[in-house]
Amino acid sequence: MIYFVTGGAGFIGSNFLKTFVPRHSEHTFVNVDCLTYSANLMNLEDIQDCDNYRFEGVDITDYEALEGLFQKYSPDVIVHFAAESHVDRSIVSPRRFIETNIIGTFNLLELARHYWKDDYQNKLFHHVSTDEVYGSLGKEGYFEETTPYDPSSPYSSSKASSDHLVRAYGRTYGLQFTLTNCSNNYGPYQFPEKLIPLMIRNILSGKPLPVYGKGENVRDWLYVVDHCEAIWTVMEKGERGESYNIGGNNERTNMEVINALCHIVSEITGKEVEDYLGLIKFVEDRPGHDLRYAINASKMRNELGWEPKETFESGMRKTVKWYVDNQEWVESVCSGEYQKWIEKNYKNRER
Ligand code: NAD
Ligand code: TYD
Repeated sequence: MIYFVTGGAGFIGSNFLKTFVPRHSEHTFVNVDCLTYSANLMNLEDIQDCDNYRFEGVDITDYEALEGLFQKYSPDVIVHFAAESHVDRSIVSPRRFIETNIIGTFNLLELARHYWKDDYQNKLFHHVSTDEVYGSLGKEGYFEETTPYDPSSPYSSSKASSDHLVRAYGRTYGLQFTLTNCSNNYGPYQFPEKLIPLMIRNILSGKPLPVYGKGENVRDWLYVVDHCEAIWTVMEKGERGESYNIGGNNERTNMEVINALCHIVSEITGKEVEDYLGLIKFVEDRPGHDLRYAINASKMRNELGWEPKETFESGMRKTVKWYVDNQEWVESVCSGEYQKWIEKNYKNRER
């Protein structure tokens, strides 16, 4: 089968391709990615010469270019990762989130409608989404698949829109889809603007660790490869037209995460943990900052038999070690455009 993997050069997409391209030589994987600041083809060096892998540098907001790819490859499955993914960026400049996350998804759905309409039963659109569509929890409770959507940021509302479009194409046209809403991922190849890689980078370079508000916000953390395995499981065994919540059952406050990172780095470098903890700096809170995300993943567990393999501790250790061993990668992805963006938008935040 031909798999179109949009956003395959980003954090989760590249972990997905690195896991499944070697494992499934019977399928061809076409990575459709326009290589924004968060992408890096270096991530995919070890699969770039595989016979069952292709790269196409196409922007999903460009309908004609995407149509060219549909005609060239006749995909059977679309695994849709491509998105603008960072909440802080969406607050400063929302436009590109609307274009990529909503219009880009719409373009893919339109092409699926035109090219798959006589054969929907043999095709699949898998939409990769986030738990942030549900908005914020208080201190109690969990996101269920039935929790009403209530997104807070331009990022999460653009993802919510794309989820609604996918479901609408299922109901209206009969598109066969599956949809996953996952909690916060961490692991290798995550662009160092998100909490965990940003903190590791700053700890290693002795820079301040910027904690938004009081650091009491809670996220549920999942190791990225566990997310990728969950997506594959849903595509293989999930019911068409259904959505599945994916989570790690690892709720931590941001302060707990930062503390754990300081301790693991200190074990690796042999330096005093107090020196790292002393870098913590409380900064202005994020506007509309969701207090808590927590996932009930029992549908994944009970219906599809999926469970995460990594614990928070084992996944964090692997991740810190990866960033310590790959500082060249970190500096290469942080040069250029990203540095300019950070300087312009965060100059008062002492990152
Ligand atoms: P990322 O920012 O690391 O990667 C996004 C990828 O999409 C990049 O390779 C980028 O070049 C590509 N892309 C962006 N705009 C594009 C466009 N217009 N055309 C073609 N390619 C484009 O993001 P990520 O963390 O890997 O997230 C992937 C998906 O998973 C997103 O849909 C995100 O909403 C979802 N998700 C992420 C998390 C998380 O914690 N990171 C959690 C749940 C769901
Ligand atoms: P982030 O990694 O941006 O993911 P999301 O907002 O999609 O959950 O942020 C995770 C949490 O960490 C969130 O509560 C905001 C907080 N945070 C900081 O305190 N400091 C930072 O520099 C960043 C990037 C995030």
